[in-house]
Amino acid sequence: MDFRAEFIVLLCLIGFTCAVPVKYADCGSSSGKVVMVDINPCPRQPCQLRKGQSYSVNVTFSSAVESQTSAAVVHGVVAGIPVPFPIPVEDGCKSGIQCPIQKQQSYHYLNSLPVKSEYPSIKLVVEWELRDDQKQDLFCIKFPVQIVS
Ligand SMILES: *[C@@H]1O[C@H](CO)[C@@H](O)[C@H](O)[C@H]1NC(C)=O
Repeated sequence: MDFRAEFIVLLCLIGFTCAVPVKYADCGSSSGKVVMVDINPCPRQPCQLRKGQSYSVNVTFSSAVESQTSAAVVHGVVAGIPVPFPIPVEDGCKSGIQCPIQKQQSYHYLNSLPVKSEYPSIKLVVEWELRDDQKQDLFCIKFPVQIVS
């Protein structure tokens, strides 16, 4: 961790609302490249998602293609099995991205991840894809979370 990252973590620990880059794995961003993933609030990783709360997600990526549309597909992977994870807005063009998407342009994809109170208290991996016109992934990221009550 460099000094800047340590400083951000320190601010978080003393109670500032802040967005720390989340450790993620790329699961096949074929028509784009992920630069950074922010989840807020997530002071400690893996992110602890409290039931009944909503978390903001900010994925910074650049596109390698032109696309008129973008559609988000979110899964929770539980014991290796992907289960659809509903999000309020599936249209990426209504989630901070100005469409049509341009080639070599950088975007911030902004959305929220609502954690329903009926979810079980488990650890899982969230797999978040944003698909272009050709159903290719502008980004595909995976990050571990823990649902807590
Ligand atoms: C999303 O993240 C980028 C990169 O850190 C930042 O510049 C931008 O302000 C963030 N947007 C929001 C709404 O938090």
